[in-house]
Amino acid sequence: MTLLHDLTGAPPGMTTRSLLLRLSAIGVVLAAGAGTFAYAGGWLSPGALTPARIVDRLEEVNGRHPGFRRNHAKGLCVSGRFAAGGAGARLSTASLFAAGQVTPVEGRVALAGGQPYAADAETTVRSLALRFRLPDGEEWRTGMNTIPVFPVRTPEAFYDQLLAAKPDPATGKPDPERLKAFFAAHPESAKAAALIKARTITSGFADSTYWGLNAFRFMAADGSATPVRWAAVPERASAPENAAQAARADKNFLFDDLAAQLRQGPLSWHLVATLGRPDDAVADATLPWPSDRETVDLGTLTLTGAEPETAGHCQDVNFDPLVLPDGIAPSDDPLLSARSAAYARSFTRRAGEEKSPSAVAAAPARGAGL
Ligand code: HEM
Repeated sequence: MTLLHDLTGAPPGMTTRSLLLRLSAIGVVLAAGAGTFAYAGGWLSPGALTPARIVDRLEEVNGRHPGFRRNHAKGLCVSGRFAAGGAGARLSTASLFAAGQVTPVEGRVALAGGQPYAADAETTVRSLALRFRLPDGEEWRTGMNTIPVFPVRTPEAFYDQLLAAKPDPATGKPDPERLKAFFAAHPESAKAAALIKARTITSGFADSTYWGLNAFRFMAADGSATPVRWAAVPERASAPENAAQAARADKNFLFDDLAAQLRQGPLSWHLVATLGRPDDAVADATLPWPSDRETVDLGTLTLTGAEPETAGHCQDVNFDPLVLPDGIAPSDDPLLSARSAAYARSFTRRAGEEKSPSAVAAAPARGAGL
């Protein structure tokens, strides 16, 4: 057998012509592979939206803050457990939904935006990201926000909206003309913005509902797939935001309140899945599903502690929404793969950078025994 045959895996009796055909086929495959990578890197089409360009834009609007997440930059690590009630087991084979199963959870609460030292404000969107560690080494990672719908439908709109909403240094507010032009080009975002504006803002992290926003699919043992959106709904009654809170001198009052509440005892949320019907939008996170959709209480998430962001804690985690256990699958929502790719890019950048202390870890209240 010749070296050429070794490389192509061609049987020794193959003719030169068929050998050339096979080689050209290999060439096509290689070219296609190279094309895929070139596309992902944005090398072939300079105008293409890539994960790097999304993260560059986050840096452009927020400034560069080495070592920090490029979005949801200000945060605090939390930990606890998820106890399944068993109602999810008919919908999904994921082992964490089996009745009685208790799964350790690590997470992170944060404020949306790329400013790690911004003062806490009630109106800033809050988030809860979770990493469930299943017994067989599987993981489920999810990030949820305190808004009922997402402001954009596509990665391209996310990219455009970042610039449209960038505060003008002179006024501290977005340029109204630019914002108007964005909403005119994206009527779905104008509708979503109205729903987001109308939401009830609660007093803190502990009494907030966190929505997963993107649709996923629960895969059952019989092979059926159910479209779902999930949310963490607090057990604690929600109190409305209180204007006096924002007047406090403590610039980390939302995080400090949560840490103090956790020092007093655990906080619980119900993980609730809303089941979509076949004609419900799964690829448009700006659209709410009708309010009469069936909901299933999957179990109780209990947070028991908080730790400042440092190496070894949630600082080193990428809450990639496509890290899913068997029994949960992605939907066709185009935001999901864009999120996964952009989070990886943000993670890679921040992992290689010098770290500055988190604003939350530096707060005086942390000395009181976080
Ligand atoms: C194309 C759309 C989106 C892009 C490009 C994007 C981008 C990002 C980036 C770059 C990060 C920082 C990741 C890291 O360094 O670890 C982040 C964090 C986060 N995003 Fe998104 N995001 C998008 C949509 C969403 C949606 C739909 C949600 C819905 C729930 C969401 C929730 C979160 C949360 C909760 C975090 C904080 C995770 C943590 O605490 O580490 N994002 N996002």
